[in-house]
Order: sequence, then structure tokens, then C-alpha cells
Amino acid sequence: MNAGIKVFAPATVANVAVGYDILGFALEKPGDEIIAKFTNTPGITITKITGAKGKLPYETEKNTAGFAAQKVLEFLGDTKTGISLEIHKKMPFGSGLGSSAASAVAGAMAVNELLKKPLTKRELLPFAVLGEQIADGAYHADNVAPSLLGGIIFIRDNQSLDVHRLPLPKGLYATVVHPNVRILTKDARDVLSDQVSLNQTITQSGNLGGFIVGLYNSDIGLIGRSLQDVIIEPQRAKLIPHFQDIKTAAMNEGALGCSISGAGPSIFALSPNSLIAENVKESMAKIFTDAKIEHQIFISQINQEGAIKL
Ligand code: HSE
Repeated sequence: MNAGIKVFAPATVANVAVGYDILGFALEKPGDEIIAKFTNTPGITITKITGAKGKLPYETEKNTAGFAAQKVLEFLGDTKTGISLEIHKKMPFGSGLGSSAASAVAGAMAVNELLKKPLTKRELLPFAVLGEQIADGAYHADNVAPSLLGGIIFIRDNQSLDVHRLPLPKGLYATVVHPNVRILTKDARDVLSDQVSLNQTITQSGNLGGFIVGLYNSDIGLIGRSLQDVIIEPQRAKLIPHFQDIKTAAMNEGALGCSISGAGPSIFALSPNSLIAENVKESMAKIFTDAKIEHQIFISQINQEGAIKL
């Protein structure tokens, strides 16, 4: 009998305006799915990839999901077990929605679930981060950690994976729009200057602290005042068509904040309730529709569970 198991790992919004590389939250959808089964060939074999338009490698070492899965097996000291992976991509790459992170998380989860959970979810984190690192070369968990663990995650330090789940005020909704232009994370990282002024540092630190205090106290006003990125967004906004118009439209509808999702081109807005989130959605969609830019747009609450076995 070899029925296998299926796992789901959700898309994520990284940076969240004020936490470049150190903040992220999980969405309810979209997300990637992986089916894992035992095979007779020791190690990880990728047997099928859908939704990737032929652009993802089947070599385990070069595939974010395959590599993460392999790292889990290696850590367990298991040299005999063979596991095959079917990867079903349900979101575009280069979208700013943590596509490679979701695959890496799903790969690590799939192995762990098939082997009847020798590791906790938290223990899978380093292997999923290693998998995602294949995609952009950098070691950061701001997509991987929320995709795996769910919720809003704050990372004090990426190297040691000192990650912390933040509390979630009731009623927060994200509106996320993805224009069909592709931005490679590596390119979006390369445009960033490594010079940050003292004034920018003070403002951004104040906003990050304010956002976290706002979450702890369910202080919606403080969250709204804090969601302003003075460092990264001004440098990356030019990569995304109509970014400023979209942001202005969202804020005019009552969004608490609106910024680039991860490395872009997706844009997210956080709203205090679903009605405002709907109005924000309409106003954002109108701008891309008027400009004849193909896009997908959706509303999601923050996903509290992260990756799951289906
Ligand atoms: N924090 C990362 C970035 C997220 O903005 O480059 C994308 O991997």
C-alpha cells in the first residue's frame, strides 16, 4: 500500500512595510501542494511538476522543494528511504507572494508527514530556509517562517532563526493585488542601496516598534500610523507600474497601510475589517483595469495555521 500524503503551504506577504527580511504573514490562499509517496530509490526524486510552465528543475539539488526535502532526510540520518514528490505550483514565481518559500516549506513538510512526524513544524524551519535559499541566494525566513508556522512572524535574527509569532488583532484583512509583471527577487534586492541614513533608521525603528506594540495591544490606530516604509519601498516602487496610484487609492478607502508584498510586484493593503478590504480591492483593481494591466486580486484573512497536511 502506497497511498502517500498531500500537504499545502500558503503564500505569504514578507517585509510588511516596516520589517525588511524580518516580518511576514501567511495568506489563506493561494498556496503550493506536494504529494509524497514512498519509492524504492533511496533519497528524494521529483516525479511531476505542474503549474510551472516547464520552468522548474527536476534535479532535487536545484529544486527548492526537493532540496528542503532532502535536507530533512539527511538530518534524520536516513539513507535508505526513498520518497517521490509531485509538486503542484498554484501561484506564479517572481510574484512577491513567497512562491519559492511555499514550495520549500511544502517539501520539508511532505517528508516529515510521510515519515509520521519525527520533527515538529518548528524544527523543519532551517531545512525549508535552506531550500528557499536556492531561489535568491539569501538566507532569510520572512516568507518561509509564516508559510510554515502561520500568523504574523517577527524574526529577530535570520542566521540563528530567532523567530517569534506576534499576536493578531481581530478583524484584520489583507487585500493583495498581483499585476502580471515579473520581478526576480534577486533583481529587486540588487536595486537596494546599502546606505541608510540615521534619520531613516530612527523612523523605521519607530514604525517597526509601533507596529509590534499595536499588534500586542490591538491598537488599530497605532498599527495604521506605523505601517510606513521609509527605506525599501521608495527604492523599489519604480519597479511596479502604478504603485503610487494603487497605494493612494487603498489609503483613501481606509486601509491601515499599503506597501510592496515581499520583493514585488504584488502589493498588499491591510484593513481593519472586511468591508474596507472589499472597497480597497475595488479601488486597486480599477487602477490596473484602467491601465489595461492584467492582474489577480484577492482578499484574505491572516492564515493562522500555516502549512498543513490535507
Ligand atoms: N525580504 C525579501 C525581499 C522577501 O524583500 O527581498 C523576498 O524574498
